[in-house]
Amino acid sequence: MIGQSEAFSALRQLVEKVATYDVPVLIEGETGTGKELAARAIHYHSARRDRPFVPVNCGALQDTLLESELFGHRRGAFTDARQDQPGLVALASSGTLFLDEVDALTQKAQVTLLRFLQDQQYRPLGGGREERADVRIIAAGNRPLEGLVDCGHFRIDLLYRLKLMQLVLPPLRERKGDIPLLANHFLQVGAARFSRPPRPLAPETLAWFEQYWWPGNVRELEHTVYHGFLLTECDAIVIAAARSRSSGCATRGHADLSRREDARDRRLRAYLCRGPDRSGPRQYHYRGAHGRHRAPSLRPFAQEVRPEQACRLALV
Ligand SMILES: Nc1ncnc2c1ncn2[C@@H]1O[C@H](COP(=O)(O)OP(=O)(O)OP(=O)(O)O)[C@@H](O)[C@H]1O
Ligand SMILES: [Mg+2]
Repeated sequence: MIGQSEAFSALRQLVEKVATYDVPVLIEGETGTGKELAARAIHYHSARRDRPFVPVNCGALQDTLLESELFGHRRGAFTDARQDQPGLVALASSGTLFLDEVDALTQKAQVTLLRFLQDQQYRPLGGGREERADVRIIAAGNRPLEGLVDCGHFRIDLLYRLKLMQLVLPPLRERKGDIPLLANHFLQVGAARFSRPPRPLAPETLAWFEQYWWPGNVRELEHTVYHGFLLTECDAIVIAAARSRSSGCATRGHADLSRREDARDRRLRAYLCRGPDRSGPRQYHYRGAHGRHRAPSLRPFAQEVRPEQACRLALV
């Protein structure tokens, strides 16, 4: 994990500390802030480091397959079950089960998980007896679970089982001091990954990097650097920030930016209560530089990103 800002150093210390206690951890933060990276860091600093780290995308778990996916099944449990199949919990045995996008769990999945977290006992589908799991649970989500509890979309009893310890990853705009370090790291990774000689970023590119508010956080920075690295042929990599050059949008004053962020936060709160998959007549979308995208997933990279365009919420 790269970073040396105050916010990031505090986070790293917390990760190391949390790793030593074998208890559930909840990691929250905006998209691309490094939640999965932090979860892996906790696992690899823990006593379970030699055992598997098994990620589960909770948003992709269908209610009908949930128990079979998590707990496995016995031969003959259903028509196609020709042999015993271990579930993700068994695969993570003595290791870490990483519940990603935990905020997307359906109500039924929340109940199933709650029952499992109470005593780590589970019964494979078609199995006669309960089995005991030995896994550490780390959960992560983009949307603050407390907000979802307030709106009735997330069970408070599950929240408190998941967040015995909690990490909140700061957005990149709150640790801008890390941007040059991260950009340099991604340049080196890019050079190795794409087998091209390493080159530095042009100073003007670094200047707008440090002003821009990075709605896609570290992932957006990473993709921006790779994009420039691959498409620029000069000795120093110049990446265009259309408005930052012509009208100074990317270098707007903080007051202006935070006014817009306040309004965005209000709309985001409304969105949190609505949930991402509710198909009511009115839905919030992020408007990206190249069109409209359903919240909360932003386009990972838009070459001509304008700060006011990159993450504008539009009510449609
Ligand atoms: N501190 C960091 N140092 C180096 N790379 C980082 C750091 N934080 C994030 N990254 C990189 O940024 C990318 C996004 O990180 P990650 O997938 O952990 O984010 P996330 O918070 O889980 O995102 P999402 O909410 O969209 O799933 C990854 O390629 C990761 O390696
Ligand atoms: Mg993730």
